[in-house]
Amino acid sequence: MRILFVCLGNICRSPAAEGVFKHLVEESGLEKEITCDSAGTAGYHEGEGAYPKMKKIALKRGHDLTSISRPVRPKRDFEDFDLIIGMDDQNIADLTRMAPDANSRAKIRKMTDYCTRLRHRSVPDPYYGDSSDYELVIDILEDACAGLIEVLTTGRHL
Ligand code: 4NP
Repeated sequence: MRILFVCLGNICRSPAAEGVFKHLVEESGLEKEITCDSAGTAGYHEGEGAYPKMKKIALKRGHDLTSISRPVRPKRDFEDFDLIIGMDDQNIADLTRMAPDANSRAKIRKMTDYCTRLRHRSVPDPYYGDSSDYELVIDILEDACAGLIEVLTTGRHL
């Protein structure tokens, strides 16, 4: 199972989703079965690591963010990945527009749909926010990533 996490810039939310999810996958011993990557709907931070504030708060919570920003490559990504998971409704709209066909569109999900504890409807963009906004991103992602693992390992469909 190959998962691609997507946000706007690929320097805050989707690198954090990738880091939190990888951490959980490793803890669950599922590295052989589940792989992931992240990308942005916009390419203006291409080549950059995760935003330092995001990296710092994620690391404090036990998640090491190592990914380098890249834009979504629609043709390849919709072929290479089984699920393409956006962080907010704008990401979902952009991905839906980028998807080359109906099969590809059927792979699109929203991260918060996997939450089982928190009631947020999106992972809010923390870029212009303060530390509490970054903490909230990690709170939501920890909940959603645990839910995603649960769905993938129990074969429940979402
Ligand atoms: P992300 O956050 O989509 O979670 O990576 C953002 C990062 C950069 C910008 C916007 C959102 N920006 O406008 O540069």
